[in-house]
Amino acid sequence: MKLLSTKATCNTHGQDSSYFLGWEEYEKNPYDEVVNPKGIIQMGLAENQLSFDLLESWLAKNPDVPGFKRDNKSIFRELALFQDYHGLPSFKKALVDFMAEIRGNKVAFDPNHIVLTAGATSANETLMFCLAEPGEAFLLPTPYYPGFDRDLKWRTGVEIVPIQCNSSNNFQITKSALHQAHEQAKKQNLRVKGVLVTNPSNPLGTTMSRGKLDLLLDFIKDKDMHLISDEIYSGTVFSSPGFVSVMEVLKERTHNLKDSDDTAQIRDRVHVVYSLSKDLGLPGFRVGAIYSENDTVVAAATKMSSFGLVSSQTQYLLSAMLGDKKFTKNYISENQKRLKRRQRMLVSGLRKAGIGCLKTNNAGLFCWVDMRHLLRSNTFEAEMELWKKILYKVGLNISPGSSCHCTEPGWFRVCFANMSEDTLNLAMKRLKAFVGDSRVEGSCSSSSSIRAQSSGSGTSARKSLSKWVFRLSSREQEER
Ligand SMILES: Cc1ncc(COP(=O)(O)O)c(C=O)c1O
Repeated sequence: MKLLSTKATCNTHGQDSSYFLGWEEYEKNPYDEVVNPKGIIQMGLAENQLSFDLLESWLAKNPDVPGFKRDNKSIFRELALFQDYHGLPSFKKALVDFMAEIRGNKVAFDPNHIVLTAGATSANETLMFCLAEPGEAFLLPTPYYPGFDRDLKWRTGVEIVPIQCNSSNNFQITKSALHQAHEQAKKQNLRVKGVLVTNPSNPLGTTMSRGKLDLLLDFIKDKDMHLISDEIYSGTVFSSPGFVSVMEVLKERTHNLKDSDDTAQIRDRVHVVYSLSKDLGLPGFRVGAIYSENDTVVAAATKMSSFGLVSSQTQYLLSAMLGDKKFTKNYISENQKRLKRRQRMLVSGLRKAGIGCLKTNNAGLFCWVDMRHLLRSNTFEAEMELWKKILYKVGLNISPGSSCHCTEPGWFRVCFANMSEDTLNLAMKRLKAFVGDSRVEGSCSSSSSIRAQSSGSGTSARKSLSKWVFRLSSREQEER
């Protein structure tokens, strides 16, 4: 008799992806300036550690809040007993105001339409439970956040069908790619319930234009589907063009007479996901949200949120912090300035190593980096070889494009906001030395040599790589 459930024993969670394996390798040998200066530098984690001092100084100025006091009286018992799954009204109000502020107050959010969840992870999964049956599908543009395989599919049984985007137009969604994905789903006998995008995109670090958002809204209207816009990085936009939320485009369409009837039909099929994990740098607090104007979705998701509530002390603390408008205004702009400076440091460090990145990068905590010229051949095997070499030899954990379902080998996501400037400089030094050494050894390929090698030459390159390629992680060795 089988003692465990299929869910407990299946491996569709996605933790074997190189995205998560890289984290494990980092944990075994983490870089530390003093204790382990040769260790692995973590550049595969989209954490924002650049503005902690601003949060800490707010806490120091408002000691009553972390001390669970209001008007000098303890509210410990009140918080300890609070368990309403609708959330603290003061927190919901402060959160929707913060979301509006990030969008330049061009749109307002009604606190009655928000559902609090334990991070965006839970928000995305909850939406899947609300919008699709097991075996139905959502279309996602590639490359996409590797966690989606877990968040959208694992427990819900929902399928992901990729919308294939490529470097020829900086990985932007096109009408034909959308239709092709839809056709592909039909061929696989999958009923498509919607499209999910991240705006700004993880891993591209780019914002979506009004035109592309209009294209998506037209598509879901025609095909009778939902649109989920995961806007977890909305506060990280550090360069123009600025951020345009799908809610803004919906609002404009509602005011435009020509489109208003059509827009009324889709208003309740557009859902926004948000979280404080990136903009405020608080992934450990587990604060996320679904915003939807569909009353049935809001009611169902609220009931489901019992499985992943935000603790009352977290809600209390953040309602006070986000309710301080002077603080939020300063935080948003200062954080963006710091992100911009960091991104420039990374881009310039990469350039010195002869490596370029997506030039449209204007948001997020990472760059989408083009290392195609460093591949031995234009294949995903070569991408894994390069990834392992960079992980073990150079001591940098970056995320290979294949873990984000990118269709072209040689792209990597490199994070820049989860370390100090010194560590980032060291990482760039290591990378530059590696590229230089590889040139001397002849193991890096120019585009033309990629072609030459794939047609039979390049043996020396293969030899020089082999010692790194075959140093497998212990997990892989165990599996063998
Ligand atoms: C696009 C996207 N959605 C959701 C998440 C999950 O965020 P949270 O920590 O709020 O669960 C992440 C985290 O990296 C992300 O990049």
